[in-house]
Amino acid sequence: MDWQRLVNLYDWERAAQEKLSPMVRAYYGGGAADDLSLNANRRVWDTLKLRPRVLVDVSHRNPSTSLMGQPMAYPIVIAPTAMAMLAHPSGESGIAEAAQQRGIIQGVSTLANQSIQTVRQLGATNWMQLYVYKDRQLTERLIQNAQDSRCQALVLTVDAPLLGMRENMMRLGFQLPTGLCFGNFQDVQQTEGAQVLRYIQDQFDPSLTFADLKWLVQNCAMPVWVKGVLRADDAKKAVDCGIRGIVVSNHGGRQLDTAITAAEALPEIALAVGRQVELMVDGGIRRGTDILKALALGARAVMVGRPILWGLALAGAQGVGLVLDILIREFDHAMALSGCAQVQDISSDLLDPHSLLRPGDLAQDRS
Ligand SMILES: Cc1cc2nc3c(=O)[nH]c(=O)nc-3n(C[C@H](O)[C@H](O)[C@H](O)COP(=O)(O)O)c2cc1C
Repeated sequence: MDWQRLVNLYDWERAAQEKLSPMVRAYYGGGAADDLSLNANRRVWDTLKLRPRVLVDVSHRNPSTSLMGQPMAYPIVIAPTAMAMLAHPSGESGIAEAAQQRGIIQGVSTLANQSIQTVRQLGATNWMQLYVYKDRQLTERLIQNAQDSRCQALVLTVDAPLLGMRENMMRLGFQLPTGLCFGNFQDVQQTEGAQVLRYIQDQFDPSLTFADLKWLVQNCAMPVWVKGVLRADDAKKAVDCGIRGIVVSNHGGRQLDTAITAAEALPEIALAVGRQVELMVDGGIRRGTDILKALALGARAVMVGRPILWGLALAGAQGVGLVLDILIREFDHAMALSGCAQVQDISSDLLDPHSLLRPGDLAQDRS
């Protein structure tokens, strides 16, 4: 395949769809119930309109920024996504290789096929994503593993007391291919992946509250982020628990269908807690202009989920790298054409307030 012909992330998506089995296509691409939040995630970025600045010297552009005081080359983070080996045998390590080469943080799902120790060997910056399980000893072991393998942060996903209704998967009778395992659950009795997956899903703890979050923050040596917050009041409570950051997210439209998009929720959350903690946003980020808009709405960086899997499916680590390079190139281009030489120049006045669904919420610029 001539990769140069895949000029944007939609091209990568189309090509990957052709390669993947209907089962994996449904698992990776689908949302919950009627896919309304999934589709809205994409539409909301398209709806936002930009007000570019002109006659600004943009001959030298710097897309770098920082998260928790650590410099990062671009405001882009790889979202944690389960089961990368459904896309490619290199799995999460393939993603790590591309992330490491570009200085991009990789979120690693608890439900990765490879263990966090294996992924860490590639030398990328890794944030470990966690679900809290009914079996708290198991949860503590997962945290300890992340800590021992020197993950730079822990990301607690809080929007999944139960798994979303993934109807397209139900229809296909989703089956895990034999031989696939869950690297972070090697000490769980069952050896068969499908059995482990059932076990893990049964272990999702719907009783989790802010008290558990507080416990986690107090008992974890790594900085804790929460992922899946869509309301300012929840954001404030999470900040009171001592977290370091929030990923504003509706889980790629895979949990509660008709939940608002992260782009819609971000302004009220930025206004409420944007000075106290750092914010990221995800869901439907497919263009460099989406990244620019996310930063203008108050995020420090974006997370990208499915496009990474499309890249991995088509060409392993190289494919992930090519997908990231397209986003990086598009973001640079968007900065230049909107009159921003550096990330600090990206402010809310770049957005047309009439194109915002809730214009009153737009945070004052915090730069
Ligand atoms: C196949 C797949 C698996 C996912 N697995 C997880 C997971 O294990 N933990 C988690 O917190 N989020 C998970 N997510 C959600 C992503 O982290 C992220 O929020 C979402 O993909 C962002 O939307 P996007 O795919 O439109 O970029 C998953 C998403 C997909 C598509």
